[in-house]
Amino acid sequence: MAEAKTRLECPEPTGKLLGTAQHAAVLPIRRATPADIEAVARLHRAVRTACLPYLPELHTPEEDLRFFREHVFPTCTVWVGGGTRVAGYCACRHGWVDHLYVEPAAQGRGLGSALLNQAIVGRSHLKLWVFQRNISAIRFYTRRGFRLVELTDGSGNEEGEPDALYEWRR
Ligand SMILES: CC(C)(COP(=O)(O)OP(=O)(O)OC[C@H]1O[C@@H](n2cnc3c(N)ncnc32)[C@H](O)[C@@H]1OP(=O)(O)O)[C@@H](O)C(=O)NCCC(=O)NCCS
Repeated sequence: MAEAKTRLECPEPTGKLLGTAQHAAVLPIRRATPADIEAVARLHRAVRTACLPYLPELHTPEEDLRFFREHVFPTCTVWVGGGTRVAGYCACRHGWVDHLYVEPAAQGRGLGSALLNQAIVGRSHLKLWVFQRNISAIRFYTRRGFRLVELTDGSGNEEGEPDALYEWRR
């Protein structure tokens, strides 16, 4: 399994735009394995509940687990970080960041930047969808070079929540 330690004050060799933090946190990032599926599904649910409380609860924890086992892990490259337990994860696929979630207690310490930096390795561009109400995530992405491409009225996502397409290009 690939494993990397990302020191945020050291620029990633492949991405000059990501990681604005000047902090000295060293955060272990590793490729997820099937053994991480349950922890990632739990983390995803907990972060959504805490940080995106305006979203409707559309799925049960069991449905979340099935989604991660049958869709996310087979189709995405998944990175997890935070040390001995999973405090954040990023799922990417063919130039898209599908999911980037860090638990509230671990936020603001560089883990999100480290996971995003991992996602850009070897990429010339990345796209992602973010809910328009998610101001803090939009600020996080724009400070890392992502630019707005499109705004929607939310009719195309299952939450029915207006979202925005952002893109980063090297
Ligand atoms: C958006 C999200 C992934 C960012 O993750 P994070 O771990 O908080 O990100 P970081 O810690 O790398 O960066 C956040 C801020 O903390 C600062 N920071 C980074 N390392 C730090 C450190 N060691 N000490 C203090 N602050 C630090 C960064 O400078 C950054 O501020 P900036 O964006 O103004 O530059 C996280 O907030 C999250 O999971 N939110 C809820 C879910 C979500 O909205 N996901 C995105 C869906 S599209």
